[in-house]
Amino acid sequence: MEVPTPERRGEPVPPHPTLSGYYGRDEDRPEFVRRLFDRAAPSYDTIEGNMAFGWGRRYRREALVRAGLFTGMRVLDVAIGTGLVAREAVRLAGDASKVIGLDPSAGMLSEARRHLGVNGVLGIGEQLPWRNDSFDFLSMGYALRHLSDLTITLREFRRVLKPGGALCVLEVTRPQNRIGNATLRFYLRRLVPVFTRLRTRNPEAELLMRYFWDTIEACIPPERILTAMDEAGFADVRRTLVIGLFSEYMGYKEGPRPTPPGPPRKPDRNNFFVRRMDR
Ligand SMILES: C[S@@+](CC[C@H](N)C(=O)[O-])C[C@H]1O[C@@H](n2cnc3c(N)ncnc32)[C@H](O)[C@@H]1O
Repeated sequence: MEVPTPERRGEPVPPHPTLSGYYGRDEDRPEFVRRLFDRAAPSYDTIEGNMAFGWGRRYRREALVRAGLFTGMRVLDVAIGTGLVAREAVRLAGDASKVIGLDPSAGMLSEARRHLGVNGVLGIGEQLPWRNDSFDFLSMGYALRHLSDLTITLREFRRVLKPGGALCVLEVTRPQNRIGNATLRFYLRRLVPVFTRLRTRNPEAELLMRYFWDTIEACIPPERILTAMDEAGFADVRRTLVIGLFSEYMGYKEGPRPTPPGPPRKPDRNNFFVRRMDR
């Protein structure tokens, strides 16, 4: 597999090389991804719940808290899917009317609307249908690997954030050590797709899980994602790594940051489970 070389400032940054076994040419990728999620949508929450042993919702909430989401903020959740991040954002923002979601898959969006009652807009992260300076907080859970270009998308994210607004991107990062990587590969590439097929009887859900691992394995390294955030103009860019697997990319648009109500939150301590990574 070809590894992407470092790009010059501002040039396109695809999240992974072409996976031609799935969609042939890069131009066909957005349509392949949209159809895959459309067809797997009714099974998505079952798959996610089983794969993450029911831990996914709580983890999403904790990540949003770490990134500074608090009551009253206006939130855009890009790649809302069935609403697993948005649900936690509503709890923290305190009101469903404060949270808007966007997704290119009508199937995923209709699941989100059914479960949550938040506003859902059909669209892609690369081209957001909102004015400049519209949101206090922008989240995107597990969709970075599906973007066509990180540079364009991150600039869009910065554009729609208000000055001082926060970005939180959640993504799975493959373990750096060989044993960890081989174990996760066996679990996600071999076991999870088979269990998914047995549990959901949905062949598209099985395909989604194979594609899930293949995109994680082929994804550009975290350092390149952090650099793309720098290049898009985000300040205080950093990554927190949870149980060596879940990366939380955070950054801010320049400007005065909103002050949370109540006493200030204690800064996160590094520990075995949650580590703020050096750059
Ligand atoms: C793995 S799901 C994640 C859903 C949700 N954020 C979560 O945490 O469960 C990935 C979502 O990204 C969406 N997606 C794919 N390409 C996208 C794009 N270019 N812009 C925004 N969302 C996209 C898919 O339709 C899908 O709903």
